[in-house]
Amino acid sequence: MVLAEVYDAVMDHVDYDRWARYLHTCLETHGESVTSILELGGGTGSLAVRLQPMGGYRYVMTDGAPAMVRQARQKVDAAGLPIRCDVAGFTTVSLQGLGRKDGFDAIVLVYDGLNYLRQIDEVRLCLERVRRCLRPGGVAVVDHATPANSEDHDREFFDRGTVEGTSYVRCSRYDAGTGLHRTTFDIVHAGTHYKEEHVQRPYAPAAIEDAIEQSGLHVSAAYDGFTFDPAHERSHRVHWLLERRKQ
Ligand SMILES: C[S@@+](CC[C@H](N)C(=O)[O-])C[C@H]1O[C@@H](n2cnc3c(N)ncnc32)[C@H](O)[C@@H]1O
Repeated sequence: MVLAEVYDAVMDHVDYDRWARYLHTCLETHGESVTSILELGGGTGSLAVRLQPMGGYRYVMTDGAPAMVRQARQKVDAAGLPIRCDVAGFTTVSLQGLGRKDGFDAIVLVYDGLNYLRQIDEVRLCLERVRRCLRPGGVAVVDHATPANSEDHDREFFDRGTVEGTSYVRCSRYDAGTGLHRTTFDIVHAGTHYKEEHVQRPYAPAAIEDAIEQSGLHVSAAYDGFTFDPAHERSHRVHWLLERRKQ
C-alpha cells in the first residue's frame, strides 16, 4: 500500500485536533471511568497521538493495512507516546489477537473506516467484534459518511500534490447507481508509478441503526457530525455513541 507513504499529505486538510477534541468530549460525557482505548482503522496514527495525551489513556491503535501501522509506529515513536500499534481487521479483531484478557473501556472507529466495509453484513460483523472487545459498561464511538453527504457535494473531486519527492493525483467519484464512492490514486514513488483504488459505501443512518441492533450494542446517542444535535436523514456524517450494557 504505497498510499501509506503519502497518506498524511493527502489528508493535510483534515483537522485532527478537532476530531480529538470532539471524541474526548464524547468519551467524557458518555463513558464511565475511561482509562483504556482501542482504536480501529487508525491509519497513520494522527488521531491517536492527539487523543491519547488528552486523557493519559492506555491506548492501542490498530489498522488493517500493515503499511499504515508502520507509519503510525514511526509517528508514535517520534512523539514518545505510550501507544501500541498493531495490525487488526474490522471483522476479525479480537481481544485474544491483541493479547488481552480484559475488554477495553472505549473503542473508536472514525473517519470513514466503516464505509470501507461494502456490505452491511460486514458492518454488523464489525460491530459484533466491537461489542466483544468492550468490557461490560464500555462505550464506542463509531462514525460513517452518508449518501446525503455524497449527494450534496460534487460527485467528482480531483487534486494533486507532491510530498518529499512522492507525487500523487487523486480522483474521487460517486456513482448513485451502485451507491459506491471510488477514489483512485496515481502515485509516483521512488521513480515507480503505482495505482491504488479505494472503494467506499456511504450508509444511511437507518441501515447502520439496524446493524447496531443486530450486533447487541445499544445506542446512547446518534449525533449529527461534530455536534451534539441529533442525527437526521440528511446528516452528512453520523457519530454513534454505543454501549455494551452491563448484564
Ligand atoms: C479513511 S482512512 C482513516 C484513517 C484514520 N482513521 C484517519 O482518520 O486518518 C480508513 C482506514 O481504515 C483502514 N481499513 C479499511 N478497511 C479496513 C478493514 N477491513 N480492517 C481494518 N482497517 C481497515 C484503512 O487501512 C485506512 O487506514
